[in-house]
Formats: sequence, structure tokens, C-alpha cells
Amino acid sequence: MNDFVFQNPVKLIFGKGQLQKLPQEIMKYGKKVLVVYGGGSIKRNGLYDEVMELLHSNNMEVHELSGVEPNPRVSTARKGVAICQEQDIEFVLAVGGGSVIDCAKLIATAAKYDGDAWDLVIRKAIPKDALPLGTVLTLAATGSEMNAGSVITNEETQEKYGWGCSFNFPKFSILDPTYTLSVPKDQTIYGIVDMMSHIFEQYFNNAQNTPVQDEMCEGVLRAIMESGPKLVEDLENYELRETILFAGTIALNNFLQMGYQGDWATHDIEHALSAVYDIPHAGGLAILFPHWMRHNVKVNPERFAKLAVKVFGVHPEGKTPETIAYEGINALRAFWTALGAPKTLADYKIDGSKLELMAEKATANGALGQFAKLDKADVLSILKASL
Ligand code: NZQ
Ligand code: ZN
Repeated sequence: MNDFVFQNPVKLIFGKGQLQKLPQEIMKYGKKVLVVYGGGSIKRNGLYDEVMELLHSNNMEVHELSGVEPNPRVSTARKGVAICQEQDIEFVLAVGGGSVIDCAKLIATAAKYDGDAWDLVIRKAIPKDALPLGTVLTLAATGSEMNAGSVITNEETQEKYGWGCSFNFPKFSILDPTYTLSVPKDQTIYGIVDMMSHIFEQYFNNAQNTPVQDEMCEGVLRAIMESGPKLVEDLENYELRETILFAGTIALNNFLQMGYQGDWATHDIEHALSAVYDIPHAGGLAILFPHWMRHNVKVNPERFAKLAVKVFGVHPEGKTPETIAYEGINALRAFWTALGAPKTLADYKIDGSKLELMAEKATANGALGQFAKLDKADVLSILKASL
């Protein structure tokens, strides 16, 4: 494996009833709080009322930014930055899914930056400070609750980029599976696809001698594949929600990525896709990932074959690594389709008219990926296969 330094400072507070710890965690940093949330799911499942009661009963001054969109927009983050600066906010609290958390990360950092929030996303400026941030997660998917990443859309330029800095690590994240019981079927499916994709992105790396990491990736994938389909049929099952919530965090808090970089080209292509068409992130991944795999089998057939055997139960006897690899990819496609995930761009009524534009956007800053380097022609070929 490659040399590495690992540090993850997020205090993870997991389990039933853990929301009660919210005030004591915030009070370490201040009493003037900006609560950031989305389109209303937290009002419908009662979490909003519980959070407000806890904050008010502890004499906190509460301000709110609601309406963070799935695929959060820089214009919404700007509104949050303005509130922070006008009201001298001391703590930013995200209550929601990955979009809300990602938006709150940009708000917290841009509030301490003397310029436009988008500068930080496109790395025109390096953050030097940030407001402290905490999260109450309501959707198992992105891992944003325990990582330093944030993905933001500029709706004017149709760009969507991931960015990160050490300030983006939440001070704490509260994960109570109870608040994920209300996640609808489609978002539950997307969450499962997203966390599996995060593990694939990491599994496909070029490092040597990574048996521990491989076993961890394969084991988490098997656990997700064991519980995911049951959960989709039994959305209010607490134990299954608990398993999937924990899996989503582990899949992208960098525990699985020690000793190598991972690939991440499929995520870059998906970000270009959802920048142009504003579709759910993991809907795009479900369509693209099997095609990324087929495009790259020849780079390292043994690696794909290992995944096929260890995770998808493909029988290797008498077969070449390439044959095993393709059987594994077919099994992944079949698993996601059975789960209810989309399969082709046509499922979102997307035709071929903007493939060129998306390939251009995806590779605007150079070739994608680490396991395999993809140029614009490669990306176009993956997109065409996805129609
Ligand atoms: O907006 P509300 O009303 O809260 O509804 C949301 C939203 O409509 C709803 N929802 C969330 N929790 C719920 C709930 N509905 C009922 N009950 C609950 N408990 O679900 C919808 C989707 O929410 P969203 O936050 O957009 O989903 P997700 O967590 O999948 O986040 C997707 C975003 O994260 C980015 C994606 O690109 C996308 O913009 N990513 C962020 C990453 C990171 N920061 O590390 C990595 C990922 O790969 C990903 O790119
Ligand atoms: Zn993702």
C-alpha cells in the first residue's frame, strides 16, 4: 500500500435517543445557531420540533435557513452566509441529508471568507477559517456526516463540483436511525446505490498489498447487499435502518481508503450529468457505474474478478478473469435493477443531445480517475453506452 496519514476528527454520536446530546455539544462553541434544513421532511417526521425544543429550552438564539435543494445550490449557500454574517452566528447546524450537510459546510466556511462562496468550490481561494459545524443526519447515503467533502451546484453555469477542506469536518454528527425511518423508497434505494458506489470507487485502486482494505470493502458491500433489499421491502424496520445508516458512514469516512486514493471518475461523470439534468446523484451512479466497469475491465481483469467472486458470488472454476469480471458486472446491474434503481439515461428521459456537453464538463479540468485515466472520448463512450 502507499504511505498515508489518517485523521478523522468527527465525533460520531450514534443510536436511539442520542439527539438529547445536541445542546451540550453545541454549547461548547456558542449559543447563536443557524439551523440549515431542506424542503420540509424534518417538519413532517417531527425532528424539526424536537431540535427546536432542545435549542430553545437551552436558551439558544436560533436562526433558520430552509429550502436547501437536493443537489444544493451555491445561491442557497450564499443566503446562509449572509445570515451568519448579519447575525454573528456562532454555530451552524445541518439537519437533513447529504445536500443539507454539504450546503452547511459551504455556509460555515464561506461565512469566514471575504469573497463569494463559489470561489471556495472552484478552489480560487483557500479557506483559512470557518464557523464550527454539526449535523443531525436524516438519510443514509453520502457519508458527508463524517467526511470533509461537499458537493455544490452552480445553477447559472450548470456546474457541479466536489470540494473539501479540513474545516468541513463536522465537530459532531448525531445519527439516530429513528429519523431515517421516514425516508421514502426511492431515496432509500438511491442511498444504497450511493454507498455501494463509494466503496467501488475506493476498491478500484492501483495500490499493491491491500488485503485488509480489500476485506473491509468486500465485507461492507456484502452487508449492504444483505440488508438493502430487505430494507426496501420493510422501510420502517429499525435494525435494517441502523445497519444501512452505519454502512453509509463507514463507506465514505475514509476508513476504507487508507493506503490508496481510489478512482472517483464515475462520481465526476455523475456530477457533470446531474449538473446538466438535476437528477438524483445515485440515480446517475446506478446508470453509469456498470458502464465504467465494462469500459475498464481490461485495465486489471483480476481486480474485477476478485470483486465478482468475493461480493457477487460468481463461481470462478474454469473461467478466465475477464469472463468472471463480466459476470460480476452483470450481477451488479441485476442487483441494482431488482432493488428498483434506474438502468439507462432514458429512464430519466435523457436523450443523446447533451452527451458531448457533459463529457466536456466532466473533463474540463483534465483527465478523470486514478485506476484508469479517462479522457473526453472515454467519458463520451461511457455516456453513450448509458443511453
Ligand atoms: O429536502 P428534504 O425535505 O429534507 O427532503 C430530502 C430530499 O428531498 C429527502 N429526505 C432526507 N431525509 C429524509 C427525507 N425524506 C424523508 N425522511 C427523511 N428522513 O430526501 C431527498 C434527498 O435528500 P439529499 O440530501 O439530496 O440526499 P443525499 O443524502 O443522497 O445527498 C445527495 C447530495 O450529496 C452529494 C450528491 O452529489 C448530492 O448533491 N454527495 C455528497 C458527498 C459528500 N459530501 O461526501 C459524496 C456523495 O458522493 C455525493 O456526491
Ligand atoms: Zn456518491
